[in-house]
Order: sequence, then structure tokens, then C-alpha cells
Amino acid sequence: MRSIKLAILGLGTVGAGTVKLLQENLTEIKRRTGCDIEITHVGTRRDRPDLNLEGVKQSSDLLEIVRQPDVDIVIEVIGGIDFAEELMVEAIKHGKHIVTANKALIAEKGNELFALADKAGVFIAYEAAVAGGIPIIKVMRESLAANQIERLAGIINGTGNFILSEMQSGASFETALAQAQELGYAEADPTFDVQGIDAAHKLTILASIAFGIPLQFDKVFCEGIDIIQQADVEYARELGFSIKHLGLAIRQTGQEQNKIELRVHPTLIPTHRLITHVSGVKNAVMVKSDALGNSMYYGAGAGAGPTASAIVADVMDLVRALANPGAANQLVPHLAFQPDQISELPIADISEVISAYYLRLTTIDELGVLTRVTRILSDHGINIESIIQKRTQNNQAVPIIITTQRVLESKIDAAIRALESLEAVNTPIVRLRIEELN
Ligand code: HSE
Repeated sequence: MRSIKLAILGLGTVGAGTVKLLQENLTEIKRRTGCDIEITHVGTRRDRPDLNLEGVKQSSDLLEIVRQPDVDIVIEVIGGIDFAEELMVEAIKHGKHIVTANKALIAEKGNELFALADKAGVFIAYEAAVAGGIPIIKVMRESLAANQIERLAGIINGTGNFILSEMQSGASFETALAQAQELGYAEADPTFDVQGIDAAHKLTILASIAFGIPLQFDKVFCEGIDIIQQADVEYARELGFSIKHLGLAIRQTGQEQNKIELRVHPTLIPTHRLITHVSGVKNAVMVKSDALGNSMYYGAGAGAGPTASAIVADVMDLVRALANPGAANQLVPHLAFQPDQISELPIADISEVISAYYLRLTTIDELGVLTRVTRILSDHGINIESIIQKRTQNNQAVPIIITTQRVLESKIDAAIRALESLEAVNTPIVRLRIEELN
């Protein structure tokens, strides 16, 4: 039986989870691949006496590991960009296939790395980079390959969804974040989770394989869960919506030029949509495609076991390719489309997006404020869908909650500027987008 040799770079939550899964399920993995799989090297600075690493060479010199002849596949789970990129380039130079969970690296440097790997005849597998254990890359790249993708809408950050769910059950933001860190869900820098950057990395990757466009992280509009307040969760619920942090990649239709929208932001979704019931660390990706219609993929979006599940499945694909010369050529291209068919479709600026909106204004209680507010909205061509003014006590600030019909974002921007210039209105006005997701 052929033996394939692995090096694992990084023994944090995900690296350790990968070692354990490979060891626990080795018999089953051998039965499925027809090959033996052996971890020959681990690259780590820390001692992990809790792991059984007997006979495995350990070193903190990761660059040296990727050059070793007794390594066929490098598993990169150190995270970060610069050093991880250096490691990958070196691994590619030495003819190693790579498996990674590093969404930041793929989203920001993937175009160059995939070109390099294609040239060298090696493959970079990255299922674990998006939505943890959900096999969404494989689904998009292979199972939906016959479809034209129209829209992706996903809860793609487990930490953010965990925090939002905990807050909806009354926990504070800080307690929920600390718990997510303890459970190994959060990024090394949790602002990546909270500010939507991690979700933007993942959306960049999903959009590329959905539409056959280059990876363009810098074009993603990004807002995080940190703009949501408890009051908005309550008002949204009263209006029949749940707030979820979504990544959205949409092929515009019916506009002068059909552009691609790439946006990550808190979103009000009607509570009858299945995706609003996705809570805790779970992720879900809804895909709307022409032949299949709507489909949804659900599962754990972070954590040792789920991420290791995706990593080891990628390893197994590469093991099969290595064991059958010729099979490597059958691997689906990195970004699903043939590299020379990746095309630069125009990306819409957020001001060009059409959406419905939720606005929360805080005003002073005086005669005619509501009239002035609604006049500004109508002057800007904005049709009000619903409006609630909350009871005020002792002349305190009065919340006014408005939802609008679908309108161009630039019109809402202009209306908000005009509303904020009213003396009776406190700034800033809270603006969230509403998506029906039908
Ligand atoms: N911090 C990420 C999340 C880990 O919470 O989704 C998985 O990519």
C-alpha cells in the first residue's frame, strides 16, 4: 500500500484537531483512499504532550520542513498572511501539494498563489477556509458546476453568529466573545470576526468560484456585528425580522450594467426564512442558481473537529491524486473555472446597490418632527414600508423606526445626510439593510 507523507504546520486548535482526526479515523481513511497516510513532520514552537506524536519529527523551522523529501502534502494551519505565503511559495517550489484553512491568505494572495501552483503542477486545497466543516467549496465547484449562480447569501462567521445568538438570549457582547475565544472559534485577532473581515475573506473566495472572477477582497463592502445594538434586535423582531450577519454575492439583473455585488453586513431577514434559525457557531450558505433553484448548506462553521473534517477530506482528495498519476490533472481548477477563463466582471460600488432599509432615528419630542422626517424621505424618492414611533416619557428622546421599500443606496445615503442635518434628530442614524432572500 502506498504511503503518503504529511507535514502539519501549526499545532493550535485546528492543527491539533487534524492530528487527532487523522489518528482516530485512520483505518476508515485508508479504506477510502487505498493508501496509508503518515504524519512525518509537525512544525510548532509549542510542546503538545496531549497529542500522540511518537515518531513524528518536530521542528520550529517551518521553512525547512516544507523542503523535506519525506513530505508529499503540507497542511498549513498557522494563519496570518506574510509568513504563510512565504511557506506556501517554498512548498510549491519543492513540488508539494498544500492543504490550508487560511482564508485571509487565499482571499488576499490566492490569485498569485494559484497561478504559481498551476505552473508547478501542484494543488492548493482550501475547503476548510470557508464555513468550517461545511463542504461548500466542493458543492460550489463540483456539484453546482452546471448552474449559473445568481446569488450567494451566507452566515459565514461562526464567532459572529455565536455572539449574536448569545446576545439574543441576553448575554453581553463581552461574555459571548470570551466564550467564543475559549471554544477556539475566534480568530487570533477577534476584531476580524467582529468587524466582518473574516466573513469578507470567505465571501471573496465564494464569489470567485461562483462567478469565475478573480479574488478581489479589496472590493468587498464590509460592516461588522459591532454596529448592531440590543434595541435594533428588539425592533427588528417586532417588525417580523431577525438580524443576521450575512455575506452576499449577487449578480445584478435588470440594471443598466449587470455588475456583481460583494457585501458583508448585518441584515434584517424575514423570520420565516430558514436561515434565520441558524444559531450559535453554525454557518449556512444559501445558493440561488438557475437549474437547481434555492439550496442551503448548513453545519458547524468553526472549531477543531469541523475544520479538521474539511482539512482531512482535502488531504484525501490529494492522496488519491498522488496515488494515481494522471488523476491530478482531473482535479477541478482552483477557482472552479479554467484559469484562462477567469474574467473581470465589474463589481458594484455599495452606492449602486438596491436594497430595502431599516432606519432608527432618535429625535426630540416636538411638534412636526415626524412630518419633517417623512418629507425628507419622500423628497429623496424613498417609499416608506412601515413606521413606528415609540412612546416617550418626560420629553426624552423618541425612537422612530422606519423600514423602506427597495431603493438605490445612494438615495438612502443622501436622505440620511438630510435627516441628520435636522436639529431635532440625534446623530448618527442607524441604517441596516433588509433582504427578503426569496
Ligand atoms: N473565526 C472563524 C469563525 C473561524 O468564527 O468563523 C472559522 O473560519
